[in-house]
Amino acid sequence: MTVRARAPGRVNLMGDHTDYTGGLVLPAAIDRFVEIAGEPGGDHVVLHSDEFATTARVPIAVADASTLEPEWGRYVGGVVAAMRPAAGFVGTVTSTVPAGSGLSSSAALELATALALGASAHDPQALARLCQRAEHLARGVPTGIMDQLAVAAGRAGHALLIDCTSLEVVPVPLPGEIEIVVVHSGQARDLAASAYAERVGQCAAIEAEIGPLRSATRRDVDRLSDPVLRRRARHIVSENARVTGAVAALDAGDLDCFGRLMLASHASLRDDYEVSTAAMDDVVARLADTDGVFGARLTGAGFGGCVVAIARPGTAIAPDLEPWILHAVDGAHVIA
Ligand code: GLA
Repeated sequence: MTVRARAPGRVNLMGDHTDYTGGLVLPAAIDRFVEIAGEPGGDHVVLHSDEFATTARVPIAVADASTLEPEWGRYVGGVVAAMRPAAGFVGTVTSTVPAGSGLSSSAALELATALALGASAHDPQALARLCQRAEHLARGVPTGIMDQLAVAAGRAGHALLIDCTSLEVVPVPLPGEIEIVVVHSGQARDLAASAYAERVGQCAAIEAEIGPLRSATRRDVDRLSDPVLRRRARHIVSENARVTGAVAALDAGDLDCFGRLMLASHASLRDDYEVSTAAMDDVVARLADTDGVFGARLTGAGFGGCVVAIARPGTAIAPDLEPWILHAVDGAHVIA
């Protein structure tokens, strides 16, 4: 019996570096996919990738996923280690989600692997938690739940308002008069080599001083004595408010307001959270100057990778930016 599992990537429209302190995010699953096809059986999960011209071979009793080769096989290994399936799987993996670009190719690979190995798609929160654990086992980076939950719970034509404390997901309709445009900054990024874990640590230090960032106010932020931590906290508190504001702007059809919030978010990620790069700032500035673009910001962790913009359909983006037009799609599922 052939099993085919398909998982989309995601783009985040608002709310970055808020998920690991239980904050708010507004991602959408996108029409770029990882697909796994094959047959269950045996005591190894064996997946061949034509794209990478390599095969991952993971024993179902894998002890340490983080040292597997090829490197992409670590995500497969993380899922196997988190799931402990009774049987293996032999098949192929294909992907149209560019790796290392901030569009969650790793979460898509994890979700597709979990579904191929028999995990249920009916409880997106449970599936996302399983795959977040897999990501931690694979990479040792303390990432939040946004990527896996966006990939699990995607809804066609909608962004997802996710409360990363309760894991409640509220689909928010995307108006027909906008297009999601993504531009790669030209800089690849590797979360394990980035300051991501350091930022997570800084948030823990902030919370030790002023309590949960999710409910912190600007006043609480001002009480922080360390100026760096104060800036980090200011980003998170203001970013949570921007997610709420962005959803209200979508509800009201106020796309100019949505665009302004995107630009404010980028400035905050650049200046207060310090996760942008000169190449990303440059792409954001060029997109923001383009007629028909409402706003732009880095998307995902930063440190390189992609920038997202919201634009009027048919907007002429400079061809040298090589824009991708993406659409919001349903979450991960088994096809056959
Ligand atoms: C990465 C992580 C997510 C989230 C974003 C930043 O994509 O995997 O959990 O923290 O960075 O918003």
